Amino acid sequence: MYLFKRKDDLERHLSVARKAGKRIGFVPTMGALHEGHLSLIAAAKKNSDVVVCSIFVNPTQFNDPADFEKYPVTINEDITKLTAAENDILFLPSVQEMYPEGLAADIHYDFGELETVLEGAHRPGHFQGVGRIVHKLLDLVQPDKLFMGQKDFQQCLIINRLIKVLQLKVELVICDTLRETDGLAMSSRNLRLNPAERQNALHIYKELIWLKGHLQEAAFPEITGKAINELKNNGFDVDYLEMVSILEDGNIAFPHQVGKEPLFAVVAARELSSNVRLIDNMQMN
Ligand code: PAF
Repeated sequence: MYLFKRKDDLERHLSVARKAGKRIGFVPTMGALHEGHLSLIAAAKKNSDVVVCSIFVNPTQFNDPADFEKYPVTINEDITKLTAAENDILFLPSVQEMYPEGLAADIHYDFGELETVLEGAHRPGHFQGVGRIVHKLLDLVQPDKLFMGQKDFQQCLIINRLIKVLQLKVELVICDTLRETDGLAMSSRNLRLNPAERQNALHIYKELIWLKGHLQEAAFPEITGKAINELKNNGFDVDYLEMVSILEDGNIAFPHQVGKEPLFAVVAARELSSNVRLIDNMQMN
């Protein structure tokens, strides 16, 4: 596997590959890699000739400085995993390399109302930071296909919008959420949970499954209300738990009952004994 820390070196290498007609697949990450990330690498390998994975803990997308400080960093293990997965290129830039202009926002993306709900409402500025770094990375890598995980439900919609706004040619491929055998959604933040907290975190999955089984029983606010109470009673601070669907324009709708369109339960909750904020989602119909 090639490892590049500088944009110039990566660009030079990729322009040779591109001239040779190679199709480039890209998997952006913040490291602390788990099977979910590796499934994105596997999907990228299946669909591209050259796979680039980036590891960069992006400071501009953390609205909470403590979350940034505590974000797990496991570079050596990540390199071992990527090598075993036969990833072709790892891009591992510094903050200075990605933000020579400094961290203060120099650009604003118009994500419309998509940025005002759910994660957008609870993490002010988060999606601007995601947009800013993904824009830089896409400009640099110029991939044919971009691989992202469904676990970051709203992030996928934001990146889709970013691609449209910037009129990029890249195709966004969204891959299924990977779960541990007991159902917990794989996440780098799970590394911050001790065994008891990890066990408690399973309540999120259990409530999603419960909702799926009780969809027809009452209007959504009633059943999501019950699930929220259950999470609260088990030591969670719930930012949101909502039933949503995706509108044709890529915005999020909040229906009150089952319709024809695909329906998802989306949740963000802080496990209070660890103070770790977890997100998850599940298709309901
Ligand atoms: O999903 C992530 O890990 C990050 O938000 C991303 C897309 C790599 C941007 O920093």
